[in-house]
Amino acid sequence: MKTYGIVAHPVAHSLSPPMQNAGFEAKEIHAEFIRFDVPPEELKSFTQKVRKEKIAGLAVSLPHKENVIQYLDEITETAKKIGAVNTLYWKGEKLCGDNTDAPGFFESISPLLKGGRGDFKTPKIKAALIGAGGAGRAMAYALKENNINVTVFNRTEKKAKALAEEFGIQSEKIENFSAKDFDIVANSTSVGLKEDKSPVSKESWGEFSGIAFDAVFDPLITTFLQHAKKAGAEIITGETMLLFQGVRQFETWTGEKAPIEAMREGLEKALKK
Ligand code: ATR
Repeated sequence: MKTYGIVAHPVAHSLSPPMQNAGFEAKEIHAEFIRFDVPPEELKSFTQKVRKEKIAGLAVSLPHKENVIQYLDEITETAKKIGAVNTLYWKGEKLCGDNTDAPGFFESISPLLKGGRGDFKTPKIKAALIGAGGAGRAMAYALKENNINVTVFNRTEKKAKALAEEFGIQSEKIENFSAKDFDIVANSTSVGLKEDKSPVSKESWGEFSGIAFDAVFDPLITTFLQHAKKAGAEIITGETMLLFQGVRQFETWTGEKAPIEAMREGLEKALKK
């Protein structure tokens, strides 16, 4: 039986195991997906264990997404540009890293882009990205790669400016954010996680018929999404990004088409617990 897993610290509440195990079960793949709780000072020896025991594939989460890169043989172009890895996989004897957060995010919003917003391969679509941390980098990369015009807003303006310069996008003061200027508004900050707060004011939504996305998925309908919905937005919850980044991982690891609905069910069941 092959062993896969997620490495993080803490890892107890990770939703990857129920999601990936549901995928293995649906495809009748003889594999297990387990949790590895590894503190930062043990990451190096953990990667040695991965090599020795030939652990078949790993999801990587906080706080290891950047630090793990130094222990790998190769990383993809996407991971290089984002500067973070969320997936380890084998290419022959080489232990490699990829970042599926970016495509996972884009896949979660693209059905709405295609359905309601016309041809998303044009630079006419405007996105506001709230936050300039790790998740923000992946989301900025995904939007820019898909020719969307991106403006980043962040509490610390300096960080927004730095990200904008690096990725060739715009930045603005968060006080100046107004949803009406955009087709998509995406929150990449952790504001709203288990709290009744939003990184942008209720008033800044005005009337808004675009798409609102929140990377936070606990609660599923965050204060940010509640305000957006009231303003008229179509909302997408963070669970969708989690699903699609996992779908990509599954396909990288197994070489098979992922059973998306089974994985969604596994994820939703665990979310309700
Ligand atoms: P992650 O890797 O999860 O994205 P991070 O790199 O620490 O975490 O980034 C957190 C993001 O959330 C940052 O954009 C941060 O803004 P600052 O750059 O100003 O710190 C944002 N953030 C966190 N707490 C916030 C708060 N209370 N209000 C506004 N933004 C906040």
